[in-house]
Amino acid sequence: MSNGTTSETPKAAKASVALVTGAAQGLGFAIASRLLAAGFKVALTGRELEGVEAAAAALDPDGENTLALKLDVTVRQDFVTALAAVEARLGTLTAVVNNAAVTRMTPVLEITEAEFNEVVTTNLTSVLTSCQVLGKHMADRGYGRIVNLASLAGQNGGTATGAHYAASKGGIITLTKIFAKEFGPCGVTVNAIAPGPTDSPLVRGMSEEKTQQVLANIPVRQFGSPDFLGDLVVLLTSPEAAFATGATWDVNGGLYMR
Ligand SMILES: NC(=O)c1ccc[n+]([C@@H]2O[C@H](COP(=O)([O-])OP(=O)(O)OC[C@H]3O[C@@H](n4cnc5c(N)ncnc54)[C@H](O)[C@@H]3O)[C@@H](O)[C@H]2O)c1
Repeated sequence: MSNGTTSETPKAAKASVALVTGAAQGLGFAIASRLLAAGFKVALTGRELEGVEAAAAALDPDGENTLALKLDVTVRQDFVTALAAVEARLGTLTAVVNNAAVTRMTPVLEITEAEFNEVVTTNLTSVLTSCQVLGKHMADRGYGRIVNLASLAGQNGGTATGAHYAASKGGIITLTKIFAKEFGPCGVTVNAIAPGPTDSPLVRGMSEEKTQQVLANIPVRQFGSPDFLGDLVVLLTSPEAAFATGATWDVNGGLYMR
């Protein structure tokens, strides 16, 4: 059984197949793009097939190194089905990026139980399911890399986002530690990335006034780069990252220091 040590590196590197959730746009798309550039075969998955098919075609017109799959992260069976499709068409799964999420801005006293549960189910329960299905599969094989997209909101309680979103992201940081302990002995590392405001459709959708307000509060006076986050995912999913696990990697322009 491989334990992700250097002696296994060439084999693991050759077999690099990654699955990214919510990959049709935004950070998921950028992460898929950087993984592909780094030599991974990449399954781009999303709630609707059309979006990820277009994303995969844009990144890999020949379709040799990508696979587009419908995977609604709130549906356990979708993970099971996706795993089988990935292994049949791309090879042994070695990396999973749990990126899919929804954001709501509702003030905390107005959040209904139904809305709270919807956000937590999409953002947090999905990470539990993914680790149980895909993580366990990689652990049984003896090698794997999992990266969960948390958020600065999960560390500071959030500013522009809702309480349900922030709570779900805080939960991801904790689940990351729990699965890192669970899978550590099996060669599977589990890390979280906690971005601050990053250049993405969401951030670009803000008014000019709001954009300037947000920038004025970021010590480095710029938004984060999706490609840099993609490169961080590449680093954390490399065989050499065997000793980095259970950590939350802050990429927030200095908004939150600890
Ligand atoms: N953009 C930022 O500034 C920022 C900051 C901190 C954390 N993040 C995190 O990074 C990740 C990506 O953010 P983004 O800005 O690209 O967001 P986005 O809204 O552009 O992308 C999220 C993706 O998740 C997908 N998705 C939503 N529900 C789904 C479901 N049930 N099943 C499958 N896919 C589903 C959406 O369709 C979309 O493609 C999220 O986890 C987000 O919380 C983003």
